[in-house]
Amino acid sequence: MARPNLVVVEGDITRQPVDAVVNAANEGLRAGGGVCGAIFGAAGPGLAEACAAVGPCPTGEARTTPGFALPARWIVHAVGPIWQGGTAGEPALLAAAYRSALEEAAAVGARSIAFPAISTGIYGYPLAPATEIAVAAAADAPDGLDEVRFVCFDAAVAAVYREAVAAVGA
Ligand code: APR
Repeated sequence: MARPNLVVVEGDITRQPVDAVVNAANEGLRAGGGVCGAIFGAAGPGLAEACAAVGPCPTGEARTTPGFALPARWIVHAVGPIWQGGTAGEPALLAAAYRSALEEAAAVGARSIAFPAISTGIYGYPLAPATEIAVAAAADAPDGLDEVRFVCFDAAVAAVYREAVAAVGA
């Protein structure tokens, strides 16, 4: 298995010129705040109907819709866990959400994918352990993906990601 190129950028997930962008979604695949609000706003009105057609989506899984007005052709909606202190299976569920998103993207033929820091905003997952899980999943991505891009909201988040990417030798 060829490891994809792991790239860390600061920026807006809705502007990424990649084949697939990942939404930090809720199980109902409904519009929300954070990344989800930004993606629904930028994609336009068709997204809600497309989400209703493929949802709901249990925690740890992912569903794919078209990208509508985004530069990306697809949106992969991945549902991370709500942090409950770390003893409710959150690490395994977060890893599953990343793995599912990568599999969905590979299945539609995407070669590049951009992730937000799933679960680390409204869902409260601590950033450092969430980042390790994200990078480990990306380093082990299915064949076909050439680039996994982590889109960070600010410089502090990007620094945590760069350290995690360096630690896996990418
Ligand atoms: N662009 C990029 N990154 C953002 C943005 C944005 N517009 N807004 C927030 N972030 C960052 C947060 O700082 C955090 O690091 O994205 C990460 C994920 O945060 P959330 O979007 O809050 O996602 P999550 O914690 O997974 O919560 C999901 O929030 O919006 C709802 O419908 C969504 O119910 C679901 C929940």
